[in-house]
Amino acid sequence: MGEFDGKVAFVTGAARGQGRSHAVRLAREGAAIVAIDVCAPVSDYNSYAPATAEDLDETVRLVEAEGGRILARRADVRDSAQLAQVVADGVAEFGRLDVVIANAGICNWSRFWEMPDDQWETLIDVNLTGVWKTLKASVPAMIEAGNGGSIVVVSSVAGIKPIPGQANYAAAKSGLVGLTQAAAKELGEYRIRVNSVHPYGVDTPMGTDQGSLKMLEAHPQFAASLGTILTESPLATVDDISDAVLWIASDKAHTVTATQLTVDMGNTKV
Ligand SMILES: NC(=O)c1ccc[n+]([C@@H]2O[C@H](COP(=O)([O-])OP(=O)(O)OC[C@H]3O[C@@H](n4cnc5c(N)ncnc54)[C@H](O)[C@@H]3O)[C@@H](O)[C@H]2O)c1
Repeated sequence: MGEFDGKVAFVTGAARGQGRSHAVRLAREGAAIVAIDVCAPVSDYNSYAPATAEDLDETVRLVEAEGGRILARRADVRDSAQLAQVVADGVAEFGRLDVVIANAGICNWSRFWEMPDDQWETLIDVNLTGVWKTLKASVPAMIEAGNGGSIVVVSSVAGIKPIPGQANYAAAKSGLVGLTQAAAKELGEYRIRVNSVHPYGVDTPMGTDQGSLKMLEAHPQFAASLGTILTESPLATVDDISDAVLWIASDKAHTVTATQLTVDMGNTKV
């Protein structure tokens, strides 16, 4: 018996990195997966490679290798119509929607007064407004099914303690804390829990982005925000984050809503 047998999970940003891991791990535990990714460049200011259609194909292959069922689409979290369509298609194919992992995001670096308007605006559109649109597209089907459910919003340590050199990212990820708590309060009566997860560095294309190193080389004093209590490993694995995401998405966390789950080696506390 898998922890998510009979359930359906919608994962955004599922082509690679953490999103792929969450999709594969949820499938291993019995969930049918609805997966989207933009599979294209999103911001000219990102200094790491974009995900591709082949990456999303590989997620499909890995989910199916677990014996899982998956509906995967190229879609952009900035586009409410695309999100509504994929949710409708997922519910038509798998019958319900129980879990949402709002994971898609981007990251780029500039001091805030040097940041071009479009660098700020695109990141806020994807990382904050895109999560709101993801939840907005998903929740009606969950309410209608009447099964309760769990929504996991992927924020960051930057949603609790801003890291200098990425004010756009800090603003978006902090905004997700407010969105998460408001959504949790509005959805409690439907037994839908809403929580945010806050990783520190994770070993993905974003987490190993050289743009962060360039910012630190130019402004070494910014490293003061990067200390951790646990120091044996600077980067979490994607499975470390999936462990936390699957727990909070599962019925084991049935008492937990509107919380901020830090998975951060203690970064937010130093
Ligand atoms: N890697 C880290 O160190 C770290 C730390 C804390 C939080 N996070 C957060 O974790 C989440 C996952 O990041 P990751 O580390 O797996 O990075 P990643 O770049 O490997 O994966 C992010 C995925 O999101 C997709 N995406 C981006 N914009 C999109 C859009 N508009 N519509 C649909 N899909 C889109 C990308 O194509 C990519 O496949 C992000 O929200 C990120 O901000 C990452």
